[in-house]
Amino acid sequence: GKGTYPFYMLKEIDEQPAVMRKLIATYAGENGLMKVDPEIVKAVQESDRLYIIAAGTSYNAGYGSKMMLEALTETPVELGVASEWGYGMPLLSKKPFFIFLSQSGETADSRQVLLKVNELGYPSLTVTNVPGSTLSREATYTMLIGAGPEIAVASTKAYTGQIATLAFLSKAVGESNGLQIAKDFDLVKELSLVAQSIEATLSEKEKIAKIVEKNLLTTRNAFYIGRKMDYFVAMEASLKLKEISYVQCEGFAAGELKHGTISLIEKGTPVLALISDPSVAAHTRGNVMEVVSRGASAIVIAQKGLEQESDDFVVSKVHPWLTAISMVVPTQIFAYETSVQRGLDVDKPRNLAKAVTVE
Ligand code: M6R
Repeated sequence: GKGTYPFYMLKEIDEQPAVMRKLIATYAGENGLMKVDPEIVKAVQESDRLYIIAAGTSYNAGYGSKMMLEALTETPVELGVASEWGYGMPLLSKKPFFIFLSQSGETADSRQVLLKVNELGYPSLTVTNVPGSTLSREATYTMLIGAGPEIAVASTKAYTGQIATLAFLSKAVGESNGLQIAKDFDLVKELSLVAQSIEATLSEKEKIAKIVEKNLLTTRNAFYIGRKMDYFVAMEASLKLKEISYVQCEGFAAGELKHGTISLIEKGTPVLALISDPSVAAHTRGNVMEVVSRGASAIVIAQKGLEQESDDFVVSKVHPWLTAISMVVPTQIFAYETSVQRGLDVDKPRNLAKAVTVE
């Protein structure tokens, strides 16, 4: 049950540090080696391209994992929207390996693709939170997130858990390939830091509640912007806000704004900027100034060291491959607070079901 929590979503947001630590216990061996099925490692090593197939938040988690997967497996990663790929797959590489990301393991759109993949005889891995689920049974391999039941329709701990699970796979493959950057990537330490970063963010819910009250209570639309990893987080952050608060929101590559979208900025339009990557921080700051000069209400979520204004929301620093996890947490709370303050049913938004079992 949800205990003393008003909504499951809040409970599940709060569980994320524990999910990170549980994943460490599951996938990190005492000898410093990853406890990832060697068959899965081998299948990835034999592949020339990894295809991540998923829907909604799981699709966004695929993007949040892409940089790390590519760096550590040295294999290109391509993302596929399940509902589109079910009707026709693009030209595939010679040795594809398919990774299905699905909290429920029951998403019909993803299953459509898996059926095709099985017909074609390609190997596959399902990363899911539900043991014995359809996508788990029908794929060649399974890795479990083990995040515990996710009840709220809005997915939170599955997103962060999926990325962390794929971190173990990435590291295992990189190590097996003798890659120095894989050996240097101390995943136990880095995920512990992620857990601490999440805890620090969770202790600042009041601050987020106040920003929401000031900026998001009545607006009909909003934007999340970011570059590189923060762009991927912006896509997930905006899905979450739309889903449970009914605020129309777009997650945008910050540099794309000036190519059209900036015409939508009016007085008071909330623009939430995600800034975790020092190499592009100045550019995104520039975009914040552009929208502010057109009347927008800017809210900056910055990683520690990149904050500038006293009201920037600061997220403590984690490894660059893992910032999708740390940076998404405040956006989960932004969505949650907006929904609560608007008096909506956070756990059961209109028109939605937890698992989408129709195509
Ligand atoms: O169970 P799955 O991860 O396959 O579900 C995929 C999407 O339906 C799901 O992530 C959906 O987008 C969530 N309600 C978003 O919070």
